[in-house]
This record gives sequence, structure tokens and C-alpha cells, in this order.
Amino acid sequence: MTLVPDIVLHVVLKSLILYFAFSNNNYMYNSKIIGLGHYVPDNVVTNDDLSKMMDTNDAWIQERTGIKERRWIKKGTGDSSAVMGAKAARIAIERAGLTKDDIDFIVFATLSPDYYFPGCGVQVQDMLEMDTIGAIDIRNQCSGFVYAIATADQFIKTGMYKNILVIGAEYHSNGLDKTTRGRGVTVIFGDGAGACVLSREEDNSKGILSTHLHSEGKYADKLIVASPSIGHWVPEILENSEEDVSYFPYMDGTFVFKNAVVRFSEVIMEGLAKNNLNKEDIDMLIPHQANLRIAQFIQKKFKLRDDQVFNNIMKYGNTTAASVIIALTEAWEEGKIKEGDNVVLAAFGSGFTWGSVIMKWA
Ligand code: COA
Repeated sequence: MTLVPDIVLHVVLKSLILYFAFSNNNYMYNSKIIGLGHYVPDNVVTNDDLSKMMDTNDAWIQERTGIKERRWIKKGTGDSSAVMGAKAARIAIERAGLTKDDIDFIVFATLSPDYYFPGCGVQVQDMLEMDTIGAIDIRNQCSGFVYAIATADQFIKTGMYKNILVIGAEYHSNGLDKTTRGRGVTVIFGDGAGACVLSREEDNSKGILSTHLHSEGKYADKLIVASPSIGHWVPEILENSEEDVSYFPYMDGTFVFKNAVVRFSEVIMEGLAKNNLNKEDIDMLIPHQANLRIAQFIQKKFKLRDDQVFNNIMKYGNTTAASVIIALTEAWEEGKIKEGDNVVLAAFGSGFTWGSVIMKWA
């Protein structure tokens, strides 16, 4: 006669197995990037071009942000966040040596979706003529790609999916205030997309080692596009005066800058500490391309050489959820990342939200 019913023993044993399997990061699998791609529109908009639309100049923009030019979608080309995301995705899948049929799931990060709903993820599923795999959108602005890759990583760690398409894409230019009123924000943002295939890695010492995500919603109004929202919908906006700028991005630039430098540093340190790494162990830092001055501040603070930090904001401006993945793709294309490198991704943005990813490149 058994004192403990079989079902109880079964549950206890299963719980113990799961506990030991998932505690101390002993997940079933790690994930690693096996293919990268990016796409930016052809249309180059220089600082001089902007000075013809508003009261600004090349010297101010370069001195404060490091930006020389950005890409803005030309109307009529058919590009959008979903379309650019699909273009970058095709390249990433091909470079991964896979086909669309090998992809199990799509994670799409953007703040500028083609539609209020549905999201861009399902559009990519359709554009790439994929099977009816799942697709989600991540709405986390400048840290969108870091949140997206962290989400995909969890699906792979648990064994649920093997190959996930992770995309970051942004179509800012059609939603910016291109008058002097909007110059503090408009000169910063650019359009573009990047994508990667995240895949199962059986060796737990390789690939994504850890991800770290944070938010502080009390500062939501410091960097925001307030309308249209369900509380402030189109007829209401149309009735408002021309002074209603709630549908343009608002940014308290100085406040955002001050918070960004603190949070970037914190979340990079958090990731290094989690993996018993020191600042000196960073081989390549890919910071979100918010402002060259922010990246330079972090580089100085972490005492990193120029070849340990990758920046391309000079060419593309801030492409928000696309910026980290475009920069990672270009760094890899330029041969600046090699097997065994400790690669750190870090981002901060509207929400506020911020995060980091620590990888052992494999
Ligand atoms: N061209 C010329 N002058 C401009 C300008 C432009 N495009 N935009 C603003 N100015 C003017 C302002 O009107 C202000 O003039 P005033 O002193 O006569 O009032 C002056 O330049 C200084 O403006 P300020 O906003 O204080 O400049 P700043 O040094 O803080 O730089 C940012 C502005 C936006 C570049 C900077 O705050 C920043 O990069 N913040 C963080 C941005 C960021 O990371 N955003 C994304 C989050 S992920």
C-alpha cells in the first residue's frame, strides 16, 4: 500500500526536475544569432536638406547629436515599417542558411506600425508567405529590439521554438513635425529596418548569456506621441486647433539625455555582473544610436577603445527599434565581431524603458 498517491509523487518529481532545470540559468537551451540583415531607404536627407525646411543648421545638429544624414522614405516607394522589416528579414534568413519554412515564430519591434492594429509581425508572416506561425509586436520604442530579442530568447531557452525571426523597423519620417516648431526632435530621427534569426544553441556557454529589462512609467510623458489614442481619437484631433501637436513626438531632450546616460551604465553593469564579467571583457558594445554624445559618454565611462564601440548614427540618425539591429548587422558585416567575442547590446528610450543583452558570439 502506498502512503502517497502516485499523482502527488508525479507532481513533486516533475516540479523538482523543472526547478533544477531552470534555476541558475540552467535552461534547456541557449539562443544565438545565426543570420543578420538590414535595409534602409535610398533617400538620403542631409542636415543641409533639413535647414531648407526649418531653422536649423549642419553645425548645430552635428555638434549636439553627431548626425550628418539620415534616410527618410520617399512617398510612393511602397516602403513602410512592415515592408522594410520584411526586406531585412529576407536577407537575415538567407544569411542564416535557412528558408522561410524553417522559421517558427516572428517578433517585430516598432513604434511606427503600418496600422494601429494589427501589428507588423503578421504582415511579415504574409509578405514572406510563411506558414501560419505565431507573430507578436513589441511596443517598446528605442529599447524595442532589446526587448524583442529578450522575448525570443525565452521562447528558445524553454525549447518551445528553434528559429525565431526578430525584426526592428521604423518609419518615422511621415510622422515628424518638419517645421521649426519640431526641430528639437525631427532632426534626430531616421527610417530603417534590421532583422536577425535567433536559433537554438545547445552549448549553454555560447550565444545569449543573459538579458536585462527595466521600465519607469512615471516618465512616460517625457518622450511621447500622445495621439491618436483611444482617449483622443481622430474626429477630436481634427476639431482641435493647429496648435495641437499631440500627434507629433514630444521629447524633453535634456531630461531624456540625463536619464539615458545613467540607465545605460547601470544596465550594462548589471549584465556584466550577472556573467562575472568586467568592463575590460567587453569586445564590442552596440549602444542604441540615440545620440553620439550619449555613446561617447558611455565609452569614456567604461574606458573602451574606439574599436570596442560601434556607432553609425552619423549615417542613419536614431532609427529607434531598428537602431541596435542595424548597428549590430553593420558591425558584423565590417568584420568587427568574431567568434568568442563578448558582445553587449544596450538601449534606453521612451517609457522610460531600458535593457541590455550579453552575448558570447558563436
Ligand atoms: N537646430 C538648431 N537649434 C535647435 C535645434 C535644432 N535642430 N533644436 C533645438 N534648438 C535650440 C533650442 O531651441 C535651444 O535654443 P534656446 O537656447 O534659444 O532656447 C537650444 O537649441 C538648446 O536646446 P536644447 O534642447 O537645450 O539642446 P540640447 O543640448 O539638450 O540638445 C538634444 C538637444 C535633443 C540633441 C539632446 O537633448 C538629446 O540628444 N537628448 C536625448 C535625445 C535622445 O536620446 N532621444 C532618444 C531617446 S532614446
